[in-house]
Amino acid sequence: MKAIVVVDKNWAIGKNGSLLIHLPGDLKHFKEKTRGKVVVMGRSTLESLPGGKPLPDRTNIVLSRNPYYKADCTVCCSQDSLLRELEQYDTDDVYIIGGEQIYRCFLPYCDTAYITKIDTEFKADRFFENLDKRDNWKLVNKGEPKYEQGVYYSFTEYKRNE
Ligand SMILES: NC(=O)c1ccc[n+]([C@@H]2O[C@H](COP(=O)([O-])OP(=O)(O)OC[C@H]3O[C@@H](n4cnc5c(N)ncnc54)[C@H](OP(=O)(O)O)[C@@H]3O)[C@@H](O)[C@H]2O)c1
Repeated sequence: MKAIVVVDKNWAIGKNGSLLIHLPGDLKHFKEKTRGKVVVMGRSTLESLPGGKPLPDRTNIVLSRNPYYKADCTVCCSQDSLLRELEQYDTDDVYIIGGEQIYRCFLPYCDTAYITKIDTEFKADRFFENLDKRDNWKLVNKGEPKYEQGVYYSFTEYKRNE
């Protein structure tokens, strides 16, 4: 499976339950990568989406430990039940889309990470693991910098090399 995330210079991903910045170009990139695929997210991330609703044109799966939690999509209440649920899909079609807890839990199952890197530091309270400090992850692709909303950012791709 794959992770997809937008990070700042310090690999920060969110603050107060929201993204650090809204970049239309990154949203387009996210939609292109995940359209028609399976997206896996934590309950907090689902609730941060517009209207707290699952993303259109994708199979949404949400994780919550609350066995009574209801959403307009599949809900799994543990890592094991998610992995069982995912058995019916091609693993290459599964995207882990956050937030911090869910990335931490499922990065060990990912072989690819699409990381949008913003060349700015934000105040933040949620982070992604710094893959530049991990021997088993390698940067394989870095796109040209883009400028939007007063920040430079670029699309990168990391691969697990074991
Ligand atoms: N920059 C990006 O690309 C990006 C992407 C996504 C999200 N974000 C940001 O990340 C932040 C949210 O991250 P977060 O870490 O607070 O929350 P999260 O990972 O979205 O969701 C956490 C919730 O998921 C459930 N959960 C976690 N592990 C579980 C497990 N093993 N089994 C079952 N359920 C599990 C729990 O729900 P219950 O409490 O219901 O049990 C937990 O409270 C927000 O600021 C959001 O904007 C950023």
